[in-house]
Amino acid sequence: MSSFAQKHKKLERNVTLLAVAAFAVVAVGGIVEIAPLFWIDNTIEKVEGMRPYTPLELAGRNIYMREGCYNCHSQMVRPFRDEVERYGHYSLAAESMYDHPFQWGSKRTGPDLARVGKRYSDEWHVQHLIDPRSVVPESIMPGYAFLAKRELKAGDMTAHLKAQRTVGVPYSDDDIAKANDDLFAQADPEADTADLLARYPKAQARDFDGNPAKLTEMDALVAYLQMLGTLVDFESAAPQEIER
Ligand code: HEC
Repeated sequence: MSSFAQKHKKLERNVTLLAVAAFAVVAVGGIVEIAPLFWIDNTIEKVEGMRPYTPLELAGRNIYMREGCYNCHSQMVRPFRDEVERYGHYSLAAESMYDHPFQWGSKRTGPDLARVGKRYSDEWHVQHLIDPRSVVPESIMPGYAFLAKRELKAGDMTAHLKAQRTVGVPYSDDDIAKANDDLFAQADPEADTADLLARYPKAQARDFDGNPAKLTEMDALVAYLQMLGTLVDFESAAPQEIER
């Protein structure tokens, strides 16, 4: 018997020694996989166009979570041909980088919503949310008519943006100071939105719920839905290297 086989025999027959050796082998594999993550700045490739959500979009996102829309809708297009043909370009990690918490979801009773923005008119969304069966007769989605009546509570928007900043969303001091004004301006057809649009490129500013006199939860939710999937321009933007 060769000396190597003899050594191996010893290792195999001694439980403690085998456990120590097995642990050492697994540990090396683990270190090789995990250690680099501590040295690279970010595991998400930055993509042109992604920006933090406007206060109104963020408020709409909160309503989306409060009402549990994620129980029936995912927000992640998987990289499979059938999904890409139905919903559009598969989702990039960067597209959820400002989502705290993320809204990927795990169930699709209804369609994926990651790219629903600009696919329908505001009127369609409002009508669909008030009474889904009036536009899609076979729909099993519940109605959310009350959203059109409920005034959007705005008071805590500044604190909300600050909280998002704590977890890494790059809101500027200016964004935070103007959070409450931005919230109203985006849904007010009379407001001057030049400053808002400069800080939040591609933000859609208009009255969303068909009732310009009142800022409702419907305004916020529709603003959020109309933004989904519209920030990254897939015609021109290829994923880029991260630059800091
Ligand atoms: C019980 C499951 C369920 C819940 C909860 C639900 N939906 Fe739906 N949703 C559906 C189904 C099913 C459809 C497809 C039929 C239709 O268009 O109504 C749908 C369709 C949609 C569509 C149209 C998507 C498309 O591409 O045609 C939007 C937008 C939408 N839902 C938004 C929402 C929002 C916002 C909420 C939360 C306020 C919500 N849904 C809650 C089941 C649900």
